[in-house]
Amino acid sequence: MYALELSGENVALAKAELEHCLRALGFHYEIVGSHGRLFLLDFQGDAVLLMGRLGLARSLYEVLHTGPERTILDDVKGISLPEGLSGSFAIGTKGLGTKFEEDMSSKIKDALGQEFLRPGLKVDLDDPEHYIEAVLANDTVMVGRLLTQVDRSEQDERKVQNRPFFSPISIHPKFCRALINLTGVGTGDGLLDPMCGTGGILIEGALMGMRCVGNDIKEDMVKGSKENLQYYGLDAELHIGDFTDLESKGLDVDCIVTDPPYGRASTTSGEDIEKLYGRFFRFCGSMLDKGQKLGLVLPGEEWFSLGGREFVLEEHYSIRIHRSLTRHLCLFTRL
Ligand SMILES: C[S@@+](CC[C@H](N)C(=O)[O-])C[C@H]1O[C@@H](n2cnc3c(N)ncnc32)[C@H](O)[C@@H]1O
Repeated sequence: MYALELSGENVALAKAELEHCLRALGFHYEIVGSHGRLFLLDFQGDAVLLMGRLGLARSLYEVLHTGPERTILDDVKGISLPEGLSGSFAIGTKGLGTKFEEDMSSKIKDALGQEFLRPGLKVDLDDPEHYIEAVLANDTVMVGRLLTQVDRSEQDERKVQNRPFFSPISIHPKFCRALINLTGVGTGDGLLDPMCGTGGILIEGALMGMRCVGNDIKEDMVKGSKENLQYYGLDAELHIGDFTDLESKGLDVDCIVTDPPYGRASTTSGEDIEKLYGRFFRFCGSMLDKGQKLGLVLPGEEWFSLGGREFVLEEHYSIRIHRSLTRHLCLFTRL
């Protein structure tokens, strides 16, 4: 069994991202239980491939034990490392939104160390081959062998302020990924961002193995997207113009994922936001077939019904950006 630590901004979104992604990869899976943002699950498939796609996951473990915090020092006696494991190991502890008491943490580490030591295994705190962690979530302790982690610093390096072309309009790469994954788009499928700005969604989509097509009404944005994509060694088909110009280009797309302007006239080129969103839903209706998905960031719940008769809102998740701005990550299906 696996334990997956999800990131904490919005656990419901992180869980939805995980499940859509598991299905998109064709992995058979079962979520066995959860403790806060720690999910216990079984799946058949390549764990590194899964973790390489997720935006809101942190660490994946092979579970050695789960049990209540109050009995952990007794329970430790029955925990062993997987048969055949050799080399060096280190043991750590951490709490998710909670903490082990200081002496508890060292008692668990000592007790686990005693259990694990056997011929062929030695402790190496600096550069261990295996990292074993006791993770406290709510009042449950999971002891697991760390298999892989999402590299958060790598995600942060792709934040808009770290790209060669900058404009303060782009959501964090982890949310771009979550939105892409909600659509269930498969590797090699066509992903269209018709209002691509600086290319944040295109960059993540291309890294995740999608065939990306981008467009923006502003030439400088399209040039900037190209520059940003090239900076990461990526490529996408790019167009300049109003999104409706794409209708005649015979594009082969499987889903649309975009983060439209939120209302300031500068980013809508002067167009009234309601008119723009209405046109946009009609455009998406013309580009997508029945059952295909639209992943859309909306600035308020008042826009949820604009999809009208062509789209149904399947799921939505709120992300608080700051006091006066909450964004809604929405998954629509073409009817
Ligand atoms: C919030 S930004 C997109 C941010 C983008 N996800 C990024 O990573 O930078 C919205 C973009 O929509 C573009 N836009 C506005 N009206 C448009 C239209 N009618 N057709 C195409 N693009 C449009 C704006 O120029 C702006 O770059």
